[in-house]
Formats: sequence, C-alpha cells, structure tokens
Amino acid sequence: MLISGRGSNLHALIEAARKPSSPFSIVFVVADREAHGCQIAEKAGIPTQIVAYEKRGKKEAEQEIDRMLGERAVEIVCLAGFKRLLSPWFVERWRRRILNIHPSLLPQLRGLATHRRALAEGHRQHGCSVHIVTEKLDAGEILGQEKLSVKKDESPESLEARVLALEHQLYPRVLADYAGSLVCGTGREGGA
Ligand code: GAR
Repeated sequence: MLISGRGSNLHALIEAARKPSSPFSIVFVVADREAHGCQIAEKAGIPTQIVAYEKRGKKEAEQEIDRMLGERAVEIVCLAGFKRLLSPWFVERWRRRILNIHPSLLPQLRGLATHRRALAEGHRQHGCSVHIVTEKLDAGEILGQEKLSVKKDESPESLEARVLALEHQLYPRVLADYAGSLVCGTGREGGA
C-alpha cells in the first residue's frame, strides 16, 4: 500500500484482511513522508518504509518503491491518500495492478477538495469511488462506488466524515473482489 497521512483506509483494509475468508493480505506499506498510517501498520505487524521523494527525486523514488514491492511479492498496489502522481513508467510497470480510492463519484470531481466543490456546485449526491490507476489523474476504470444524499445544512467537514465512513466499506469490498478475480486467474493469493 502507498500512503501519505492518516491511514484510516489502510486501517479498514488491515481489519478486513484479518478475516479468514479474505482473499487479500496487506504485506507492506510505503509512505512518501512521516505518516500516522505507518504507526497503524507497525502495530499490526506490517513492515513499513518511508521513501522521501525530496532526497532522491521522483524517478529514483519510484524505482526504489518498485524494487521493494517486487521483493515483497506484492501483486496489487493500493493507494490510500497517497499524495503523489505516479509516473507513466510506474503505471506501465504495474498496469491494472494499482487501485486508488477517491472521495467523489467519478468521473465527477476529479482532483482535490472534492467535498467543498460538491457543495459549491450543488450536487445532490456525493460519495467515493475505487478505480484502476492510469497515467491520467483519477481517470481509470471504476471498480466500485458508494453514494450518499447531500443534506441541506451539510458542511464540507460533515460530508467528508460521512464519505470517509463509506470509503471504509467500499475499499475492502472492491479489493476483495479484485484480488479474488486474480486468485481465480492465477491460483495465487493477492498481496497488497
Ligand atoms: C481519503 O479520503 C481518500 O479518499 C483521499 O484521501 C483520504 C485519505 O485518508 N484520497 C484522495 O483524495 C485521492 N485523490 P486516509 O489516509 O485516512 O485513508
């Protein structure tokens, strides 16, 4: 998994992976900075690594991440609040093996500040999506979505909290389906 911060989606996936019936396990966590999510992973006994982009530049940082994921036999790379755009090189190396969770009903509201923009644009429905990562920002095939109705007196903060609760249900469900489909294809378990 690749993270940059709080790690609440990471936590939801770790919990889901504990179920005996889970077709995936969380085997390794990479952060691009000091991140609270690393503490969550360490508590769960999952190895973590910080790869600071500033020191080495994007190309070297991605090569390092690619090498470490390979060493851990990772099969699916899950982004959860990872605040970097992956290069075409990395995306090609992991074609259809990188998933991301985004806090909007894609293709609406790509990019940042989705909850504030949903309110400013008067959206009646909002939610979150899990999609395959491609070279284009928040644009790959959508694998699953969860929706809610925007309330009349909703603030960006309340909307964010309600969507985040949906994210924690959606990501484990979609990853289980996706990893399950890989197990069917290869007979191996999906390590993320
Ligand atoms: C989540 O809301 C996720 O959807 C969002 O960052 C947050 C990370 O929270 N991702 C994006 O905005 C990606 N474009 P977390 O660290 O608690 O999982």
